[in-house]
Order: sequence, then C-alpha cells, then structure tokens
Amino acid sequence: MSVSVKMKEGVERSSLVRRMFEAGMVLAAEVGRENVYDFSLGNPNMAPPPAFQEALIRQAALELPGKHGYMANAGLPEVRELTAAALSREQGLPVPAESLIMTCGAGGALNVIFKTILNPGDRVLVSRPYFMEYDFYVDNHGGLLESLPATPDFEPDLGELEKRLSGKTAAVLINSPNNPTGAVYGEGTLRALGDLLRQKSREAGRVIYLISDEPYRKIVFDGITVPPVFPYYENSIIATSYSKNLSIPGERIGYLAVNPRAEFFADLTAGAVLANRILGFVNAPALMQRITGEIAGVSVDPGVYQKKRDCLCAALEEQGWEFKRPQGTFYLFPKAPGGDDLGVIEALRRERILAVPGRGFGLPGYFRLAFCVSDQTIQASLPSFKRAKAALAQGG
Ligand SMILES: Cc1ncc(COP(=O)(O)O)c(C=O)c1O
Repeated sequence: MSVSVKMKEGVERSSLVRRMFEAGMVLAAEVGRENVYDFSLGNPNMAPPPAFQEALIRQAALELPGKHGYMANAGLPEVRELTAAALSREQGLPVPAESLIMTCGAGGALNVIFKTILNPGDRVLVSRPYFMEYDFYVDNHGGLLESLPATPDFEPDLGELEKRLSGKTAAVLINSPNNPTGAVYGEGTLRALGDLLRQKSREAGRVIYLISDEPYRKIVFDGITVPPVFPYYENSIIATSYSKNLSIPGERIGYLAVNPRAEFFADLTAGAVLANRILGFVNAPALMQRITGEIAGVSVDPGVYQKKRDCLCAALEEQGWEFKRPQGTFYLFPKAPGGDDLGVIEALRRERILAVPGRGFGLPGYFRLAFCVSDQTIQASLPSFKRAKAALAQGG
C-alpha cells in the first residue's frame, strides 16, 4: 500500500474542495481568469496595512545576534509580552505572557491544543456549519469531532449541547465570527455556555475545555465588537492568527492563549510548548513574530469588507436570494434555492461564478460566498447571480 489508510480516506474526503478548485481552473482556462468570478476562497484580497510593511522593512534591516536562530518553543519573550498586553485589553482581564504560545497560524494553534488535551477517543463538539479542517485537526490527535445543529441564527444551540455533553467530551469548539456564516456569538450565549460547561464538567468529573477559534475577531461590521471568552469560562483556550486581520495567511503566524484562571494552567502551557516542538513546528516564524509584536493591535480596516458585504447583500437580496447578513468575516452563507447545494453550485458555475456548497461545511442546503474579492469582481458578477437565480427558479 502506497500511503496509510487514513490518509487515503482523507484525500478522498477532501476531494470536494479539490474538485471545485479543478473545475475553477478548467473554467479559467476556457474563458480567461479575469472572466471567472471566484468566490470560493477565503484568501483575503486586501493588502496588509502599511504598518505591517513598515515593520517588515525595519525588522529585516535590524542587526540582532541570533536573529534567524532557534528560540524557546513558546516564542520570543518580548513578543509574548507585547501580544499578551494587547490580548489583556481585548479580554478585559490581565493575561500574562506565560499564557501565550506563538504558533504557525490558527491551524497550528488548534493542532497544538488538541495534541495537548486529547486522549484517544475523546470527543470535541462543534456546531454545524463549521470549518471542515476541524475534522482533520481533531483526528490528528486521536479525538473525534461531533457536530450538532446550531440555532436558526447560527449560534451554538445550548439545548442540543446539553444533550450531547458527556464524560467523553474533552472540549467544545466555537468559532466567532464564524466561517462560513459570518455570525458573531452574543455575550449572553458565551455566559450561558460557560455556566453549562462548568456544570457539566462537575457532573462528568473532568474539565471540559472551551476552545475559541477566532482568526476573524477584528473583521466585524456596524461597529460591533466580539465579546471576549476568558471572562465567561475559566477553562478556555483561544486559538487565533494574523492571517485575516493582517491579510498575511501565507506567513503562518498566530498564537494560542490559555486562560490565566484555567484549573490546569501549568500543565496546559507546558503541554502546548512541547506539542509545538514535537509536531515539528518547533517555533513560529521569527521575523513574523517580531513584526506582529511590534504592531500588536493593528489590523486591516474592516470597513473595506463591510462595503463589499453591503454591496453584495443589497444586490442579492433584491434578486431574491435568502440569507442572514454576516456580522463579521468576509463570508456570506445563503440558502440554496430548493435545498440542493450542489445544483446551485453547478448553476452558478454555468454563469462563471465559483462558490462552495454547504456540505463542504457539514450543512447541505446552503452555499458559501467568500467576498474577499475586488469591488469590480462583485459588481461584474451581479448579472450572473441574477441569471443563475432565474435558471434555478425554472428548475434548471
Ligand atoms: C475558522 C477558521 N479557523 C482556522 C483557520 C486557519 O487559519 P490560519 O491560516 O491562521 O491557520 C481558518 C482559515 O481559513 C478558518 O477559517
């Protein structure tokens, strides 16, 4: 056998996204890349903020001993200090540098967290729809991801959660602002979730962690802020990155932060430092650490995405597509007319629009549009959306 059974299965499972990517390439070859309206990828089109570019130039020119060398697996102490200060302001409580471990993006942070907390067969609960790499991240470390229905507003359904929390549950995973729905969970939800997890942990005789994956925290609209998680549940861990809020996903920089009030704080941070090392990350990229430390608190202007959201949503609403306006991220998650998400994707493709079916997020019957594209792409695509909608209404 050429590769492991698990990887063979994994390649099969992720073939949906691959097939879509290939279909997009074929379409681009047929009609020219500029004539394809590609809403399939969460790859920000915005340039990083000027402060990033300036810090990059300054940091690149600095002469420091051991500048490109290995370092402590948790990251550069001064960067952890600066990042912890910014996180303290955001969470509204003091977070020490020891809480933070610099990682290779939020994906790296989640893998480190799961490696640290999971025993074989442990369950991690998440609401549908969700970012489907989570299945792999949990499985990588011997756990099992279980998904459950969300509320109609795409918030975690605490009633469903209560039924599913058990002695086998190691963690509940939340993602707000959410990919793919753009929902931001309210403070009341987080407070009630914290209370529920505290009660269920007591009953189960084990700590059930709350893992908050929040790489889109800074991309929110209409002046809202994303409520912090640390005040509402002590056994919580944040996974985040600069991929979206600085528009640098290829640079692979982020961090995890353990709640300073976590019951097993010392075990968690020591385990995560070891996991960062033995997963082969060793440490997060040095240059990117220095830059993000220097400009801690800076992010892209969410107003730019808000304008795109407003433009796309107004036009699609008028055309009769149904959806909840996203409160954050750069994703829109409309209902598939007739409930057939694959049919909608095909109708859109015929109009040269690329999108991802809801089943790619564990929820058929919807589809995702990533509007981190140029204003021109959005404008030019609108007649195509209209034609696709009309074709679907005629059953084709
Ligand atoms: C919800 C969510 N979590 C995690 C990630 C991974 O982010 P990173 O590039 O920082 O690893 C993504 C990337 O799209 C995401 O959408």
